[in-house]
Amino acid sequence: MAANKMFDIAGKHAIVSGGAQGLSRGMAEGLLEDGCKVVIMDLQKEKLEKVCADYRAQGYEAYPVVGNLADRADLNRMFDEALEILDGRLDILIPAAGVQRRYLPEEFPEKDWDLVININLNAVWFMIQRALQVMLKQPTGGKIVTIGSMVTWFGGTTVPAYTASKGAVSQLTKSVAVDCAGRGININAICPGYMDTEMTANMTQERKDECTKRIPAGRWGLPADLKGVVTFLCSSASDYINGATIPVDGAYLCK
Ligand SMILES: NC(=O)c1ccc[n+]([C@@H]2O[C@H](COP(=O)([O-])OP(=O)(O)OC[C@H]3O[C@@H](n4cnc5c(N)ncnc54)[C@H](O)[C@@H]3O)[C@@H](O)[C@H]2O)c1
Repeated sequence: MAANKMFDIAGKHAIVSGGAQGLSRGMAEGLLEDGCKVVIMDLQKEKLEKVCADYRAQGYEAYPVVGNLADRADLNRMFDEALEILDGRLDILIPAAGVQRRYLPEEFPEKDWDLVININLNAVWFMIQRALQVMLKQPTGGKIVTIGSMVTWFGGTTVPAYTASKGAVSQLTKSVAVDCAGRGININAICPGYMDTEMTANMTQERKDECTKRIPAGRWGLPADLKGVVTFLCSSASDYINGATIPVDGAYLCK
């Protein structure tokens, strides 16, 4: 296949979680612009429905599925609904919804630990498992992109549950890659650096400035910075890439 054709993912069916805002919305938007049919999942009903209605008004195939991925039964219901919208075909899964809670380790509330692990790790795993059950039966296989972080490598401060979950997601990605690389599935992780979204909006300006100084590219990332790498990882261009953790961080990790 000619190199410029390898990136064509028009007509693919995709699920992206967490896309009412932020990075997931940017990634879903990239897939829509590439010509994919995308189910976007999120907890925020009104926001998600408006996001999808706006995309559909622009001619894109974006469909909302609202629910709480921290709840196993709801996750399964959401997945069933998504598959129905996608006519049973799933080519791309991006289980990107995530939360962060900040406390000193000795004060970290049990309920927040459970919430972060439930959304950032357990929901990611159960979505991957549901996706594999569909993708492995398709002659064309499937592409899964998980979302790590700089704390996939570093120990972030006051985020023990988030750090544990993101480290685990990269290991989970490698584990699934080993079992599925020979069966038509590519699974890889994108690890965003410091990205300007609602998740980081509550950081103090002082802390933000401190982070900016450490980013060789000289700026924070934006949701649109993930579009290119998502197209690559969801296309034939990445057919021989498995279990990789790819930083998208303006060289933060290199410094
Ligand atoms: N912003 C960053 O700097 C950064 C850096 C590295 C990794 N990430 C990761 O990227 C992903 C997206 O982050 P973001 O910055 O866009 O966050 P965000 O807070 O802006 O968006 C997260 C989305 O997930 C949804 N969500 C949360 N809990 C949910 C649940 N239980 N069920 C369904 N939906 C739920 C939220 O409603 C929200 O729309 C996360 O996995 C995050 O850990 C973010």
